[in-house]
Amino acid sequence: MSRTALVTGGNRGIGLEICRQLGHQGYKVLLGARDVSLGEAAAAELARDGMNVTAVEIDVSKAASVKRCAAGLKKQGIEVDVLVNNAGVIAEGELLAGPDPMKGALAVNLMGPLNAARAFVPAMAERGWGRVVNVSSTWGSFDAGLEGPAAYAVTKAALNALTVRLAREAGDGVLVNSMCPGWVRTRMGSDAATRSVEEGADTAFYLATLADGGPSGQFFKDRKPAAW
Ligand SMILES: NC(=O)c1ccc[n+]([C@@H]2O[C@H](COP(=O)([O-])OP(=O)(O)OC[C@H]3O[C@@H](n4cnc5c(N)ncnc54)[C@H](OP(=O)(O)O)[C@@H]3O)[C@@H](O)[C@H]2O)c1
Repeated sequence: MSRTALVTGGNRGIGLEICRQLGHQGYKVLLGARDVSLGEAAAAELARDGMNVTAVEIDVSKAASVKRCAAGLKKQGIEVDVLVNNAGVIAEGELLAGPDPMKGALAVNLMGPLNAARAFVPAMAERGWGRVVNVSSTWGSFDAGLEGPAAYAVTKAALNALTVRLAREAGDGVLVNSMCPGWVRTRMGSDAATRSVEEGADTAFYLATLADGGPSGQFFKDRKPAAW
């Protein structure tokens, strides 16, 4: 049976590579992009390699956009079995001085995954099967010292907390996990980063394709549990 996966921020970087890996595995991929023309260009590239990929417009920071996306898919009879909350932004700046970096970071890094979960996880729970992957960061790990830009660290820590609580609410059969891709060569990670997108996407792919009875409510790096 072919499953359908929605990947947010799928038009470039790690998200595009997650789309590629899932498409290669035979998943029907909904490549989410806030600019649908960028999404369509990226989807066309994967389709040329024989993958079943469709671009969908979704700005995760806007609840109305997420709802519109979910309603459009429902109208077409498309069920989302796997949700990869990959879209994210780095927000530079201090918490106490200068322009506020928190509002934008919260909207994308925390409310984005929550908006998407609200739109797609209840139906997974009803069907008793689903996978949710929250692309987080070690910079959101208390154990690793909450490094990196402040608003990024705080919102990724909050995303990890969201993972724990969503896993509890989602119920049996819906596995919800967080992961860190490592430092990856993307627009966000820069050319100086140590990992390729293939390496960065691997743990998200692993969690998106977990077998039944797999872990839920955990944080992973390199396919292994990591400390919060
Ligand atoms: N690269 C790293 O070293 C690294 C390390 C740890 C964690 N991560 C995490 O990995 C994820 C992917 O990062 P990346 O390195 O691939 O970053 P990237 O190259 O900057 O790509 C970010 C993606 O998110 C999309 N996006 C941003 N805001 C959005 C919104 N409001 N709605 C929908 N999509 C939105 C972007 O769309 P546009 O093209 O329209 O801007 C783009 O597709 C992020 O969650 C990031 O925090 C990355």
